[in-house]
Amino acid sequence: MTISFAVYDGLAKGITAEKLSEIHKLSFQGSVEQVWTPAEISSLLLNPDTQVMTIWQEAQAIGFLMWRQAREEAEILTLCILPAWRTQGMGSQILQEFYLLAAKNKIAEIFLEVRENNAPAIRLYEKNAFKAMGQRKNYYSDKDALIMKYIMK
Ligand SMILES: CC(C)(COP(=O)(O)OP(=O)(O)OC[C@H]1O[C@@H](n2cnc3c(N)ncnc32)[C@H](O)[C@@H]1OP(=O)(O)O)[C@@H](O)C(=O)NCCC(=O)NCCS
Repeated sequence: MTISFAVYDGLAKGITAEKLSEIHKLSFQGSVEQVWTPAEISSLLLNPDTQVMTIWQEAQAIGFLMWRQAREEAEILTLCILPAWRTQGMGSQILQEFYLLAAKNKIAEIFLEVRENNAPAIRLYEKNAFKAMGQRKNYYSDKDALIMKYIMK
């Protein structure tokens, strides 16, 4: 199994907003999370501070991580892995690859918001050294958000 990564600022060869939207939809199926349409994804990526890293298994994109950088801080906007590829370390691999890129981009801190009952995601972030920093009440329609932060080593 060959795993590879690619980073796009804007949409480039190899990936489309339609494909990212499809992965997002399949990944969040069954959750109350709103699916990002291709138009929403294109619009997010029009911002030069927003980038996306995809994870590939051979020629198949199996997940992605999207973030926004503001000076030395990055916010993870979403991270998703297709259901068929879960619990095989793919989430950790893309996060670790992102840490390498973050170091190159002089990012000092990474933060994110996660639904407080999203156990797989919270486990993944904790395993990769994110710490819970607090809560944001009623952030999601049905739940509070947990704010988590990773300080670059
Ligand atoms: C969260 C998500 C990205 C995890 O991806 P993944 O590839 O399965 O993650 P990994 O295989 O690297 O797992 C990392 C850790 O999380 C744990 N984990 C993963 N899925 C889990 C689950 N369903 N229940 C409990 N723990 C889980 C793993 O066991 C692993 O810890 P371990 O090595 O100690 O066992 C994936 O479940 C997903 O795409 N979910 C839907 C989208 C989502 O909620 N994204 C987060 C938005 S903030």
